[in-house]
Amino acid sequence: MADKLRILGISGSLRKGSFNTSALRAAVELCPDEAEIEICEIGNLPLFDQDFEPELPAAVKEFKERVAAADAIIFSTPEYNYSVPGVLKNAIDCGSRPYGKSAWEGKPAAIMGASPGAIATARAQYDLRKMMVFLNMFPINKPEIMIGNCSSKFDEQGNLTDEATRKIIGQMLENLIAWTKKLK
Ligand code: FNR
Repeated sequence: MADKLRILGISGSLRKGSFNTSALRAAVELCPDEAEIEICEIGNLPLFDQDFEPELPAAVKEFKERVAAADAIIFSTPEYNYSVPGVLKNAIDCGSRPYGKSAWEGKPAAIMGASPGAIATARAQYDLRKMMVFLNMFPINKPEIMIGNCSSKFDEQGNLTDEATRKIIGQMLENLIAWTKKLK
């Protein structure tokens, strides 16, 4: 049997009860057999400092290795002040340096986001897509997963209970897997 595709899931929230991390956990559960999703923490990364480029800190090196080893990336991000949270931008910056040695280069990707608000992370997601142009990543365009009014869609344990959202995440995973195979 062929090896499973390895997808790295990155949440833009460090919060214990994060809806976005819960959405990633739902993706892990809904992932088709031919792939597996591993969730990667980013809270241990130092604040990026270009002075450490000649000798990257161990946590940054390890993070870059995990990104580089993945066949595809899923970002699940909140929107903070109309953009991506600083912790996610920091992780993206850490993975992208030194220049010419970015771990994101050529990676297929998918984006989702959850917010208690109605706009549902759309502004943050488009900022993330803009970063992906410079990073030379290849995000799928559809489906766009914007989980609005999210507090009504998860139970108290963080399980995704909304059937329509489960279905669209399943569709995203199928599209991401097909896209990743096409790019390989
Ligand atoms: C927010 N929140 C928010 N929501 C939104 O839809 N648009 C926004 O611009 C912002 N801005 C914002 C800034 C900051 C600093 C915080 C802490 C929060 C609310 C946010 O969507 C909500 O806290 C989510 O629950 C965060 O996602 P997690 O942690 O549940 O994954």
